[in-house]
Amino acid sequence: MTQGHSMDSDKVDSDANPSREPIRFLVFAASLRGASINAKLVRRAAELIEQHGGTVDFAFMTDFDVPSYDQDVQDSEGFPAGAEAFYNRLNENDAFVIASPEYNASFPGALKNLIDWVSRYRPQPFNARQGLLMSASPSMSGGNRGLWSLRVPLEHLGARIYPDMFSLAQAQQAFDAHGRIANEQLSDRFEKTIVAFMDLVEADTHYHCAKKAWFEYLGEPLTADTAREE
Ligand SMILES: Cc1cc2nc3c(=O)[nH]c(=O)nc-3n(C[C@H](O)[C@H](O)[C@H](O)COP(=O)(O)O)c2cc1C
Repeated sequence: MTQGHSMDSDKVDSDANPSREPIRFLVFAASLRGASINAKLVRRAAELIEQHGGTVDFAFMTDFDVPSYDQDVQDSEGFPAGAEAFYNRLNENDAFVIASPEYNASFPGALKNLIDWVSRYRPQPFNARQGLLMSASPSMSGGNRGLWSLRVPLEHLGARIYPDMFSLAQAQQAFDAHGRIANEQLSDRFEKTIVAFMDLVEADTHYHCAKKAWFEYLGEPLTADTAREE
């Protein structure tokens, strides 16, 4: 894992997939709170990604701090440092994983504001990028409504948001002492979702035939323009 966050205490090397092509994931929770349950969930996701042969670039929402979007500010001062950091780290990775809190049946305004800033870059970095969404909440729905609303701007920007989203209900009591999901069935589903997403990212990043099939399915011929690789 980059950014100096060691997860060595919880390695399960026997699960690693040594035959995997290199794949890099930007991983962060969209919460500013120190004791964030979404940060806890995404930290577990990062451990599993590493165990299954991926590289994790672990970030914090504070790395991407930006003022409210204002086109006058953009025109006069350019992009703020937090937007520049998010733009660069999206581009440096093959895919992203976000654990987002649910605020009032939607996702946090701070994340929307960040997405709005970064959407003004050209080339626009969400386009054709694979993303996995997850949430944790004390509620019984696990914050799942927030993820449905988060899909909208991301898919609008061309991100390929993985169909399965993982929401952890009653999250304040869902982890064991090692930070794993205590319920075995849920834990298994979480891991399977992550591995399936990793397989897709690996195929999309390294196997041209899979990429071609994807665009053909959408009815677009694979040309320099429609591949959106600017
Ligand atoms: C402004 C606000 C609105 C919230 N709205 C919801 C909600 O609609 N649904 C929900 O499940 N939890 C809601 N919560 C509770 C959050 O899920 C809870 O605070 C959670 O711990 C936030 O995630 P974090 O721990 O990663 O910061 C809300 C919390 C705040 C501060």
